[in-house]
Amino acid sequence: MNETVGPLDGKVALVTGGSRGIGAGIAKRLAADGATVALTYASSKDQAEQVAADIAAAGGTAFAIHADSTVEADVIGSVTETVSQFGRLDILVNNAGGGSFARIDEMPMADIDRTLAVNVRAVIVAIRESLKHMGEGSRIINIGSINAERVPFPGISIYAASKGAIAGLTKGLARELAPKGITINNVQPGPVNTDSNSADGPAAPLMLSAMALDRFGDASEIGAFVSFLAGPDGGFVTGASLNIDGGYTS
Ligand SMILES: NC(=O)c1ccc[n+]([C@@H]2O[C@H](COP(=O)([O-])OP(=O)(O)OC[C@H]3O[C@@H](n4cnc5c(N)ncnc54)[C@H](OP(=O)(O)O)[C@@H]3O)[C@@H](O)[C@H]2O)c1
Repeated sequence: MNETVGPLDGKVALVTGGSRGIGAGIAKRLAADGATVALTYASSKDQAEQVAADIAAAGGTAFAIHADSTVEADVIGSVTETVSQFGRLDILVNNAGGGSFARIDEMPMADIDRTLAVNVRAVIVAIRESLKHMGEGSRIINIGSINAERVPFPGISIYAASKGAIAGLTKGLARELAPKGITINNVQPGPVNTDSNSADGPAAPLMLSAMALDRFGDASEIGAFVSFLAGPDGGFVTGASLNIDGGYTS
């Protein structure tokens, strides 16, 4: 338990894909701001447990849940396990995601289906299940991508389509959830230094050429943005797709 009062004290958060990268940054920031955090992983058990251990070492509370986002029962199970462990659910962050990158005629249908399953279907399943437990003041935050708004290179079309779907889903649900006192937003990062998009990788110079700032973002910066939306100061923001992109869309 944190000794100082944080903006998220008493809240319970579920962060999907919290074992690495942006999700780990979000989980750590929500916990530092006072939330109790459940985080899911697909295959990185050790890394997920290390994130939970890091949070505990910093005075917070977290636990890791195995849940493959492509498996509906796993996604539902991660929500019910969070509620049974911590008694409530106030904040859902749909972060788990990724994709295959190739031109549409070069991408196997299995890869297309998987991208849509993780980036879109799993988000819908998690939201449907979470709403059974969420009360007034709850927050849903989706991690989309700046590629929903700008696709400056070929080979990103299916990924961009999946993240565009999240932008539309977020708008539609803002209307459905407002009467329940629940907000929903879509955070659209530009290039962020993670395993799936290394600032030292071969594609980095191309991405930097599309940006105003001459650097990749850090997962902690996305975590801070998400924590604002999750907290009391973010209460008037809903249905929005918010870019945090180093000027990728400038
Ligand atoms: N990095 C960027 O530049 C960037 C930019 C815009 C948007 N995004 C979005 O930000 C999110 C996180 O990206 P990242 O760069 O942090 O990726 P990452 O470093 O590759 O981490 C991906 C995370 O998602 C989890 N995950 C992947 N597939 C999963 C599945 N089927 N079931 C459950 N968990 C799964 C991974 O779990 P395991 O560790 O168990 O595999 C891991 O925790 C994604 O939605 C991505 O599209 C990233």
